[in-house]
Amino acid sequence: MISARREVLAQDHDLTFRVTAIATGTRGCILAPDINLEDALERVAQSAPLSSLDGVQNAPDPLTLIKQADADVLFETSPLNPADGEPASSHVRLALSRGLHVVTANKGPVAFAYRALRSLAAENAVQFRFEGAVMDGAPIFNMVRSCLPAVKVLGFSGALNSTTNIILSSMESGRSFGESLAEAQRLGVAEANADHDIDGWDSAVKAVALANVLMDADLRPSEVIRTGIRQVMAPDLLRARESGNILRLIARGERSRTGVRLTVRPETVRLGTPLATATGANNILTLKTDLMGELSITETAPGVEQTAYALLSDWISIYGARDSRV
Ligand SMILES: NC(=O)c1ccc[n+]([C@@H]2O[C@H](COP(=O)([O-])OP(=O)(O)OC[C@H]3O[C@@H](n4cnc5c(N)ncnc54)[C@H](OP(=O)(O)O)[C@@H]3O)[C@@H](O)[C@H]2O)c1
Repeated sequence: MISARREVLAQDHDLTFRVTAIATGTRGCILAPDINLEDALERVAQSAPLSSLDGVQNAPDPLTLIKQADADVLFETSPLNPADGEPASSHVRLALSRGLHVVTANKGPVAFAYRALRSLAAENAVQFRFEGAVMDGAPIFNMVRSCLPAVKVLGFSGALNSTTNIILSSMESGRSFGESLAEAQRLGVAEANADHDIDGWDSAVKAVALANVLMDADLRPSEVIRTGIRQVMAPDLLRARESGNILRLIARGERSRTGVRLTVRPETVRLGTPLATATGANNILTLKTDLMGELSITETAPGVEQTAYALLSDWISIYGARDSRV
């Protein structure tokens, strides 16, 4: 995406860039003053190691690469580990402590280490951005930061997991759980380990990210009251439909006397309300606020392109770059 938009970024946003390091899990970690992205992408398409590129130096692992990279920004997109947020949190911590801005789509660091990382970023006068962590490219954190000054977020509710939305929508049409899961996997929406979706871990990590950032909580995913969708049966969906409702896996955050209470569980959703737009792969988040009432953002069938856009938009906003359109 950055490669295809190089000229637009320069013309419209005064942003130019060089890629000086790339880390992967299985294709090596490389450093060079100006890596040719098209060549690197070609190597990935051929399943060839990145070390086969001309003129690159190798690093033994991602942490050493982050230590050595001559860079201003780290884009962190390693896979999520919902148990501890690693290795992403360590990557982010090291980069911020070295004075690099960090942009990530990984919810782990926000769910497991937000306060520490926010302080580290402030100490080093750099920014830690994570718009893609909860709803791909749909602006949630940046909307609150940029467009809702002085607004307090009182709570939220959302259908934030495409896999469970697809499974429940598909079961409503009479398919079995197994067939519906296979459909989500065929669409490439399910996590590599689909149990993370089905058992509500993905939604729990997202709920914690929202609460820690927007409601000043300091929670961890294990503190979410969580029930997945394994127990939802076809007759439950039918009964809901007969009374004008659908069932969806809803992540909910509410202020309580003791702090913020987070739940992830199948809930009955009234047809015609914003949450009921979560059919198929669509996602929705409703924020409950003090000055703006309820605000909802929906995203239609998000994919990897929208997530890439989240990284791009965070990067542009870090530099407060001008936008020639407005
Ligand atoms: N895909 C989406 O639409 C989406 C939406 C929202 C958020 N996210 C988040 O964005 C992140 C990336 O998602 P993705 O779909 O692009 O995942 P992906 O296709 O699995 O890609 C992950 C990348 O990280 C590399 N990697 C694996 N282990 C690593 C390690 N220990 N250190 C450094 N790099 C490592 C992988 O390299 P190898 O291929 O060589 O292993 C691969 O390049 C995840 O945290 C995900 O939760 C994704």
